[in-house]
Amino acid sequence: MQVNYHEIETLNYPVFLGDELWTKIGEFLYPYLSYSGVYILTDENVHRFCLPALVDNIPGFSDIPVYSLPASEKAKEVTALEDVWKWLINNGASRDSILVNLGGGVVSDLGGFAAATFNRGMSYINIPTSLIGQADAAIGGKTGINLLGMKNQAGLFADPAAVFIMPSFLKTVPELHIKSGWAEIIKSAALAGGGFWDKLKNLGRPDNGMLFDLIAEAVRFKCGVVAADPYDLDTRKILNFGHTVGHSLESLYLALGHDEYTHGEAVASGMICEAWISGKLTGMPENEIDQLTGLICNFFELKAVEERHYAFLSDGLKFDKKKTAHGTGYSLLENIGKPLFGKTVGQSTLLKSFNYYNSKATK
Ligand SMILES: NC(=O)c1ccc[n+]([C@@H]2O[C@H](COP(=O)([O-])OP(=O)(O)OC[C@H]3O[C@@H](n4cnc5c(N)ncnc54)[C@H](O)[C@@H]3O)[C@@H](O)[C@H]2O)c1
Repeated sequence: MQVNYHEIETLNYPVFLGDELWTKIGEFLYPYLSYSGVYILTDENVHRFCLPALVDNIPGFSDIPVYSLPASEKAKEVTALEDVWKWLINNGASRDSILVNLGGGVVSDLGGFAAATFNRGMSYINIPTSLIGQADAAIGGKTGINLLGMKNQAGLFADPAAVFIMPSFLKTVPELHIKSGWAEIIKSAALAGGGFWDKLKNLGRPDNGMLFDLIAEAVRFKCGVVAADPYDLDTRKILNFGHTVGHSLESLYLALGHDEYTHGEAVASGMICEAWISGKLTGMPENEIDQLTGLICNFFELKAVEERHYAFLSDGLKFDKKKTAHGTGYSLLENIGKPLFGKTVGQSTLLKSFNYYNSKATK
């Protein structure tokens, strides 16, 4: 029999990657379907573009209860979480049921949290449909919601029972959100170095035709990092490269109501600041900083940060989850492919990194 998918076995749950995973998903869910119930969480766009394919291709799926979140980062909050719990109760879910998170990072972050806390823990699987979801968010068991306008303030580690990644779902993702996903791919490549980085460097610009291959690289890299440190106590922290400043930017634009501002754009900008900081604190060579920054600028039109917002950004870092009693631990690069973590960054270095970033911004 011809195998048309990869199974990545690094973690203690399977991660499947391929364009025709319907049979695999069906095989996985049938025992729940006949015994304790399957529930699908999605968002309103994914409901429209992806749910019909799932329901049509897996016999017996047409009567499964479905709940659709509003499609945006704003859904990742406590009221939506409560609504999902209530929907599960009202539809007879139990601890033995399974939740299918069909959607982007918002659906898998919130759905994973909802499942892991419902009846003290029901199982869930992720079927990511956005590029961020496929290259990153669906893997690794980090779940959570935003609070008080700040990213991921409540959540827990809870592994999915399986992840099914089908790049064919990306066909209907708006270009803005495909672009957003490139940021996490660039981040993974910069951390991994080697052949993965060379592929991106040689690509130079977005090429959606390369996505299947690059998603596979990003997924393998993330699975390896997560397997070595599942609870983010140590080496997994490298994955936060670009995210310390990035999350602060995301919180700023969330507070300002800029709905089109994406997680990926924030991470792209965060990586530029943190690459510059790396040059100052870890000796990352200038030519590598230029290479990374140049690559990001080829992918993103970057939004300049107004100086009047610098204080909001540096204050926001006080609430960063990566903070300890000794301050926020940054994940930086010594070189492309040589990350390190737990670095403290002084206020003036941080502010100067915003100036460097603004010198690269184009809008
Ligand atoms: N848990 C983790 O490890 C992790 C890692 C990275 C990012 N994240 C989180 O993920 C979120 C960002 O993820 P995202 O970019 O997927 O956000 P998202 O879930 O909001 O999806 C982006 C947009 O794409 C739409 N969409 C998704 N799939 C589609 C499809 N196939 N066709 C048409 N439209 C589609 C969604 O409706 C939404 O409008 C952030 O909240 C971030 O914090 C979590």
